[in-house]
Amino acid sequence: MTAIATEAPPRDLHGRPLHDLRISVMDRCNFRCPYCMPESTYGEHYRFLDAAERLDFDEIERVARAAAQLGVSKLRLTGGEPLLRADLAELVARLRRIEDIDDLAMTTNGVLLARHARALREAGLDRVTISLDTLDADLFRRMSGGRGELADVLAGIDAARAADFPRGIKLNTVAQRGVNERGVLDLVERFRGSGIVTRLIEYMDVGNRNDWNREAVVPSAELVAAIDARWPLDALPPRYPGEVASRFRFRDGQGEIGVISSITQPFCGDCSRARLSSDGTLYTCLFATRGVDLRAILRDGSDNAALRERLREVWLRRADRYSEEREARNTRSRAKIEMHYIGG
Ligand code: GTP
Ligand code: 5AD
Ligand code: SF4
Ligand code: SF4
Repeated sequence: MTAIATEAPPRDLHGRPLHDLRISVMDRCNFRCPYCMPESTYGEHYRFLDAAERLDFDEIERVARAAAQLGVSKLRLTGGEPLLRADLAELVARLRRIEDIDDLAMTTNGVLLARHARALREAGLDRVTISLDTLDADLFRRMSGGRGELADVLAGIDAARAADFPRGIKLNTVAQRGVNERGVLDLVERFRGSGIVTRLIEYMDVGNRNDWNREAVVPSAELVAAIDARWPLDALPPRYPGEVASRFRFRDGQGEIGVISSITQPFCGDCSRARLSSDGTLYTCLFATRGVDLRAILRDGSDNAALRERLREVWLRRADRYSEEREARNTRSRAKIEMHYIGG
């Protein structure tokens, strides 16, 4: 009998299992959202990874298979922008074949989605999440660092609908005080009743480059109250422990929304997520300062069992609960990994 069958799936130091692996396939992005990759830092001289530094599809698949043996059933492809990675549908098809993966998703800025939606769907992608912060074309341009066009993202959303992903479409809207907060209700109205779930995200202190400050955070409770006043809402129970979004349904049957309140209501208690950067570093928290180099193991001739055992060890030692500790620590001084590198 193998070690997989005899050893129980690992639990970390707070008793949390490993269920979810977020895989960043590309550190680059075709946007420069000021809250993630401000142009001032990510100009033409910024050094992104070389292709050889990124894990190839064989290596990504090996990590995903090892993770699946330890209890992961959910994979999410992220970036930077994942659709900048050539042949992404091929990776999707490979990951789809892994037994025990019952949810295969992708988070994208949507600009290239119109081109790729059908192939991704055919390769087995279950669902897609598209970032969309505003329906105002000028503000959209500004919020993407002058690189994105709203019309392209809307075309991407249409293409995703036409592709009919079996587990649907979500939108991610990061609300920022004084920037896009006033357009949030328009966004909710536009997609209410469409089957697409809009999620409103509190602006987070990810990385060290976005000049985050608390005043720019719009507490989710405030947005929920505003939406509820217009279209009454009922809270829904979480679908699984540690669900990132709190869900609400429209009382008039026009679907649901979610809010992601990492600042005002942290959800570390049941966090079962690990993150793999495109150069093969494993992080056990979005706000981690250090990760574990899996690429070295992938490239030194170690077998899959050794890879799996390394992953197990990392998870067994995990104690992260950054969002819950945010207020207690001086977090600004920590050298945290950047969002585009770890995919959110
Ligand atoms: P679902 O499976 O659809 O619930 O996806 P998700 O919400 O887990 O992932 P998505 O990539 O759509 O992320 C939505 C927002 O939640 C982004 O701003 C992420 O950075 C943030 N997020 C996701 N996971 C975590 C987490 O473990 N901790 C914190 N603090 N934020 C997270
Ligand atoms: N705070 C909250 N969400 C963020 N995202 C990017 N940067 C931040 C931040 N500082 C979101 C993106 C994308 C998701 C993966 O993370 O909009 O939808
Ligand atoms: Fe914007 Fe997402 Fe690109 Fe970051 S990775 S710059 S949030 S589109
Ligand atoms: Fe998990 Fe870290 Fe996010 Fe807390 S802050 S929910 S531990 S990723």
